[in-house]
Amino acid sequence: MLNDQTIKIIKSTVPVLEKHGTDITKRFYQLLFTSHPELLNIFNHANQSQGKQQTALANAVYAAAQNIDKLETILPVVKQIAHKHRSLGIKAEHYPIVGQNLLAAIKDVLGDAATEEILQAWAEAYGVIANVFIGVEAEMYQQSERQKGGWTGFRGFRVKNKVKESDVITSFYLVPEDGGAIASFEPGQYVSVKMEIPGEANTYIRQYSLSDAPGKPHYRISVKREDAVLSKPEGKVSVYMHEHINQGDTLWLSAPAGEFILDQQDIRPIVFISGGVGLTPLVSMLETVADSQPERHVTFIHAAQNGDVHALRQQVEKVANRSRQVSVYWCYDKPTDRDREKKAYDIEGYIDLPWLQKIIPTKEASFYFCGPVQFMKTLYSSLKEWNVAAADIHYEFFGPSGSLEET
Ligand code: HEM
Repeated sequence: MLNDQTIKIIKSTVPVLEKHGTDITKRFYQLLFTSHPELLNIFNHANQSQGKQQTALANAVYAAAQNIDKLETILPVVKQIAHKHRSLGIKAEHYPIVGQNLLAAIKDVLGDAATEEILQAWAEAYGVIANVFIGVEAEMYQQSERQKGGWTGFRGFRVKNKVKESDVITSFYLVPEDGGAIASFEPGQYVSVKMEIPGEANTYIRQYSLSDAPGKPHYRISVKREDAVLSKPEGKVSVYMHEHINQGDTLWLSAPAGEFILDQQDIRPIVFISGGVGLTPLVSMLETVADSQPERHVTFIHAAQNGDVHALRQQVEKVANRSRQVSVYWCYDKPTDRDREKKAYDIEGYIDLPWLQKIIPTKEASFYFCGPVQFMKTLYSSLKEWNVAAADIHYEFFGPSGSLEET
């Protein structure tokens, strides 16, 4: 336990950290990767170079520091991060390395303002926070180990099938190379894929949602090819997978993880809204809910630019055809002439609140959504405007988690 004086110092320095947060974490990563270059095999370089990860870590540290005397209140956030850490293979022994470099970064950025007393207080506070993470993650590792078909670390999976789903999305059907069972998962969860790319100094780890329902003899991931756009570089892993990973090749996967999952105790209507490749976890949920809760009213809305980039359409329509409770809507913002001819979509343009209110029978429903950040921000504020209860709004970020609240 921290003493009152230490807690006081931590709380009074939170505003200072907030002011210098990004500088501190930037410096922290410089120091971390210089002293431990092997960690470059774990961290996402693209998120680093776009500054996304810096913000994610800084925010988590502020939240923890702000609540240092009641850390149980941030347990839900800790659990979400711990899922990511567990799927990346972060271990207890990594924590002191991060702690030492974080402290050194605070010292470098704050200079004389970082007194011995302040540094000592932060060292203690970090130790307390780290122990909470280590404890939660240890439990998750044990669960993965104990679960039937479960495993820890990265396990080899053979690509049984590679299926082009649209111009930009391709599915990979994966079965374990050891021929053993595979762990079940909650619809909505993701796996980490660890990839060695010829000519690249470091390995890459990326997360992909499982896009098929649980209970099959395979896992399926559906990967969007992230080509370079303006200043945003191409996604090395997704492009490599599209171009070079084929049937018979091996992918290294960690066990399913994540907290964006379908609540199967809930019996109220459910609404799925996805944008682009954000439909992958929602298709898994849709398949599951249609089978396990056939009486539940389901609205599935998907936004894509047009039919050329619209993946998994047939699979979703098949579910809708076999269940009277499932309604499906397609929204294209740039339909092609072929889409127009085939009347392949329900609305042209973007999803807005008046339209949602027209097609969704009640706001007393559970809403699950996933897509580009701006798409999710707009949806989130629409649902808030409609007074949908916060507890009924569930969403997933692809990439580092953030907040959808307008700041
Ligand atoms: C991801 C916080 C310790 C490695 C994250 C995220 C947060 C976070 C907020 C983003 C989660 C998300 O996107 O859902 C923390 C805090 C720590 C801590 C508060 C200490 C108390 C560590 C340690 C390591 C580590 C010890 C290993 C050296 C990573 C990696 C990611 C991550 C590799 C994924 C980021 C990416 O690939 O861009 N962490 N973390 N973290 N963390 Fe930690």
